[in-house]
Amino acid sequence: MIIAVASDHGGFALKEKIKAFLRTREDIKIVDLGTNSEESVDYPIYGKACGEAVASGKADRGIVCCGTGIGISIAANKVKGIRCGLCTSVEMAELTRKHNNANMLALGGRTTDPDLAIEITKAWLDTEFEGGRHKRRTDMLDEMI
Ligand code: RB5
Repeated sequence: MIIAVASDHGGFALKEKIKAFLRTREDIKIVDLGTNSEESVDYPIYGKACGEAVASGKADRGIVCCGTGIGISIAANKVKGIRCGLCTSVEMAELTRKHNNANMLALGGRTTDPDLAIEITKAWLDTEFEGGRHKRRTDMLDEMI
């Protein structure tokens, strides 16, 4: 599985920690779309780039980080075909896969403990979509943009 990762400066440190975790997984190849430092940058650029990598099929899924995870998830969700879930708990990560078939995960570098963020990432990677009634709803989402 190819995972695209991206962040702004507020999510940079967490993105690096997520990458270190992803490197421990033999089934995952990482594509890092930046940013590459804590110098201030604009999160819409990085959310859009990661969303486009997933929507185009260059990556199977994407993980984005900013200070709160909010701005970069909003940016990602503006790309057609993206369902990006901002998660602050393992339960949310499981549900955003089971119910929303989230192809992107957003995390807050300033709001979520890094160790919890890794647990959230594991749950999001390893939980399958349940389909059924949830597929009808995600199809409705995908028709919106
Ligand atoms: C950057 O200061 C901050 O606004 C950004 O990382 C994010 O939290 C926006 O939603």
